[in-house]
Amino acid sequence: MTRVALAFSGGLDTTVCVPLLEEEYGHDEVIGVTVDVGQPEEEFEEAEETAEALGLEHYVVDAKAEFAEACFRGVKANATYQGYPLGTALARPVIAQAILDVAEEHDCDALAHGCTGKGNDQLRFEAVWRASDLEVIAPVRELGLTREWEIEYAAEKELPVEAGNEGVWSIDTNLWSRAVEGGELENPNYVPPEDIYKWTQAPTGDTELVEVEFDNGIPVAVDGEEMDPVSLIQHLNTRAGKYGVGRTDVMEDRMLGLKVRENYEHPAATVLLNAHKALEDLVLTKEERSFKTQVDHRWSEKAYEGLISGPLVQALEGFIEVTQEKVTGTATIKFEGGQARAVGRDSDYAVYSESHASFNSADIEAGIEQSDATGVAKYHGFQERLAMEAYESATKKQTEAVTDGGDDE
Ligand code: ARG
Repeated sequence: MTRVALAFSGGLDTTVCVPLLEEEYGHDEVIGVTVDVGQPEEEFEEAEETAEALGLEHYVVDAKAEFAEACFRGVKANATYQGYPLGTALARPVIAQAILDVAEEHDCDALAHGCTGKGNDQLRFEAVWRASDLEVIAPVRELGLTREWEIEYAAEKELPVEAGNEGVWSIDTNLWSRAVEGGELENPNYVPPEDIYKWTQAPTGDTELVEVEFDNGIPVAVDGEEMDPVSLIQHLNTRAGKYGVGRTDVMEDRMLGLKVRENYEHPAATVLLNAHKALEDLVLTKEERSFKTQVDHRWSEKAYEGLISGPLVQALEGFIEVTQEKVTGTATIKFEGGQARAVGRDSDYAVYSESHASFNSADIEAGIEQSDATGVAKYHGFQERLAMEAYESATKKQTEAVTDGGDDE
């Protein structure tokens, strides 16, 4: 008696996987697992209904809190990949782990997903699963299934899939972002129609201010009201979405080398990333800021790969955590014309000193006089001047050597 746990959404791919895991892979029993990372209600209804019609034992796991925690690690790292705040990428390890937990609880022998062999998600799922002893099965990839074949097979087997049920676009939604791809959008020159957006309205002339409070780099309150991470993200998605904040249209380089066009909306992520950066700009030194952009970049690349538990990320987070101790305070963001722009920031850790920025009595008290800058000004550019002189004298010497050589003849 063997049992396999399948990552189940109720869509075409995962629905055809159910009978295939028995027929083609010889497993006796399949259980379906749907992990809640903030998808819309209809997706759970679809999964429940399809599972019931298939007679599939089905489990729904709420992992919204774990996912929000991963998103906030992303905020600390100012994480984006080619402009996209990594919603799908950050969700996959959380989903994979939740499915693995269910599989182990139910004594499964194998794990399966319905990803194709072209995308990133197969890699992100399997990076987590292959650390376990369970067998990993990817029917769509391994059997080389096409959409057309799946539709025909589903009809033959009378599987509960409605043709056209999946719509024109391929969509992946969670708390942090909504990704839309496929159909005509695959043409990089096709202008996205307004109806691909569900979370954001076309920007109007209206504006609004919002104040986000951070504690050690983590968003904790909005306009003075404390919120848990999941509620805070949901609140900002609704609020900033009304102003058209957080739309991106990306030419995305996938892990396997494919370049794809992807559209995203992510209002809360944009607000929180911009607010967090604004606060860092106030409390970190020039060198911390400069070095952190490199750390953040590497963190984001590993997150895109679905590898945020590895040694490099742990080490990068060592640096990030030290800097975040100071990222405590507030940033004020203005929603305007589809943008979420930082218009204010405040922290006890501010490196900025209003009295030192303009020359006044504070400097005199600190024993600093304007004329103290004279020495610095004399040295500034010293090496550049040395280099210029050296170059001039060397080239002059060369020319003289050539001229002298000519005289000898
Ligand atoms: N390209 C993104 C990523 O790999 C998101 C893919 C989401 N899937 C979709 N059907 N749009 O992280």
